[in-house]
Amino acid sequence: MRKGQIVVEASSLCRDFVLRRPTRILRAVRGASLRLYAGETLALVGESGSGKSTLARMMLGLLLPTRGDVYVFGEPIDKLSRLERARLVQPVFQDPYASLNPKKRIGDIVAMPLTARGGQTAALVAQRVGDMLERVGLGRDYAARYPAELSGGQRQRVAIARALIAEPKVVVCDEPTSALDVSVQAQILNLLQDLREQQSLSYLLVTHNIGVVAHLADRVAVMYLGRIVEEGPTQAVLSAPQHPYTELLLSAVLPLDPDHPLPQIDEDAVPASQVAPPSGCAFHPRCPRASARCQSEDPVAELRDSGFVACHHPSSKQPDEPLASVIAFPHPLHQPSQADATAEAHKENV
Ligand SMILES: Nc1ncnc2c1ncn2[C@@H]1O[C@H](COP(=O)(O)OP(=O)(O)OP(=O)(O)O)[C@@H](O)[C@H]1O
Ligand code: SF4
Ligand SMILES: [Mg+2]
Repeated sequence: MRKGQIVVEASSLCRDFVLRRPTRILRAVRGASLRLYAGETLALVGESGSGKSTLARMMLGLLLPTRGDVYVFGEPIDKLSRLERARLVQPVFQDPYASLNPKKRIGDIVAMPLTARGGQTAALVAQRVGDMLERVGLGRDYAARYPAELSGGQRQRVAIARALIAEPKVVVCDEPTSALDVSVQAQILNLLQDLREQQSLSYLLVTHNIGVVAHLADRVAVMYLGRIVEEGPTQAVLSAPQHPYTELLLSAVLPLDPDHPLPQIDEDAVPASQVAPPSGCAFHPRCPRASARCQSEDPVAELRDSGFVACHHPSSKQPDEPLASVIAFPHPLHQPSQADATAEAHKENV
């Protein structure tokens, strides 16, 4: 892989879902474009329901877009077979309780990408499974165990081993630690970071955690109501957010700068509906900078220093000191969603 090479690209992706009784269309993703470059970690953030997982699933080829295209190493994803896709891109999901088959031994679960591909002896597969289990911090003897015998953190290590054993180029991690106990989250994140370096991986990392963004991500994309509204290098976006929605997300965690106070956004305002998005800029009912233009004219993404912002009145604040030093790791961006809360109910220590 060349540095700067685009490994996965989403181009104007849209995904609608049909809701019943009464029948109506929910527009979960509404024209999102995103590029993941070789060797980088791109964080995707946004409030619950903004469309992050739907976008990630389309980029994995697990969900068909209603409109738009996904390219993997320049090839349209629908032209790749399931095996070819799996060889290049692998997922790590939020819930290690749901993502591992309880009836299979850990060794068979981790071996799956190799056995599906075929062409290797059972002895070689067993050898590679043992090596991979060690690399994720579990002993070789874990191969004989079942998922029910493992803690949440150990299960997520198994899920990571399964994702990486066939040496993919890209890993899409959707909230990989939010179902885990806080004491285990940093261990799993550090493991992902180490493996990224060892295996020259690129990560698309969906997260609610600003500490994870600050410490692990090279770039960050901010999603609101099915669109990417701001994207740029992590340092620039976190220290000088230009979109009012990014300012809202960050206002809960960053120390206020007296020279550049963040706008007072009504956090109790009801988030706009994906069934009937507001006219113009979809954020205008919640935005303190909204003008008459914002109510009628949808902002087009404008390039800024090595990123973009989709706003008629972006902030002009300049990036300042690195933020990783002032943000704890991990540090939640906002209250967990209902799905997170359900997962919390299952959590265990390693
Ligand atoms: N299969 C589906 N059928 C109907 N609606 C769906 C479906 N999947 C997702 N949605 C809706 O699409 C919207 C975006 O969902 P998505 O799961 O992508 O959000 P998210 O940003 O990942 O949220 P969270 O942070 O809570 O995980 C939500 O309103 C959700 O209810
Ligand atoms: S376009 Fe207008 S309403 Fe939308 S975020 Fe920018 S200032 Fe706010
Ligand atoms: Mg999600």
